[in-house]
Amino acid sequence: MTTYELILSRRTIRKFEQTPVPTDLLEKCVNAARVAPSGGNLQPLEYIVVADPEQCQQVFPHTAWASYLDDGTPGPGEQPVAYIFILTNTEIRANAQQDVGIAAANIVLVALDEGVGSCMIGSLDRDALRKVLKVPEHCQISLAIALGYPAEQPVMEEMTGDSIKYYRDEQGTLHVPKRALADVVHWNRS
Ligand SMILES: Cc1cc2nc3c(=O)[nH]c(=O)nc-3n(C[C@H](O)[C@H](O)[C@H](O)COP(=O)(O)O)c2cc1C
Repeated sequence: MTTYELILSRRTIRKFEQTPVPTDLLEKCVNAARVAPSGGNLQPLEYIVVADPEQCQQVFPHTAWASYLDDGTPGPGEQPVAYIFILTNTEIRANAQQDVGIAAANIVLVALDEGVGSCMIGSLDRDALRKVLKVPEHCQISLAIALGYPAEQPVMEEMTGDSIKYYRDEQGTLHVPKRALADVVHWNRS
């Protein structure tokens, strides 16, 4: 599969097999984030990898899922089996959201290349997670990436109306509308 095909095939996964993700793949994901572009090459990001099943259980209640769905939260037996938390060391840079996004994309794509699905999670109870993960004051919890082998196969579709809301059909398949290329690309001027 080409990089382009991998990018097109990626969908956010919110139902996971309970098979562990190999430790060396998790480390590879972090390594791919480590070498990502960084504004001013400041490299303010740090990572917490959670793969221990008990620690995953401690983390899960502090994550929020799929706000457009009534049944978007992974149920018992569907929850992530690993997480990578992206932290911003605020002693290096106060706000590094662009670095965070690039690092997150690298993590997600390296995982997917080996069949592991993911969900980026910005809706976090950061105060609770700071305690669970023992995050020091000078680090912000910027983003979580929940990981595991996919137990669902969401599909992307071109937006027909004006709704950007993902939804499930009668079979339970998640549909993710994307704005049409022609609506977002501007050549040479806006
Ligand atoms: C910065 C960011 C934060 C996100 N936070 C959440 C979240 O808190 N919970 C969740 O279920 N999905 C979250 N998502 C996943 C988006 O809902 C998802 O990317 C979007 O619906 C498009 O679906 P796709 O990733 O399959 O293209 C987040 C995505 C990004 C990029």
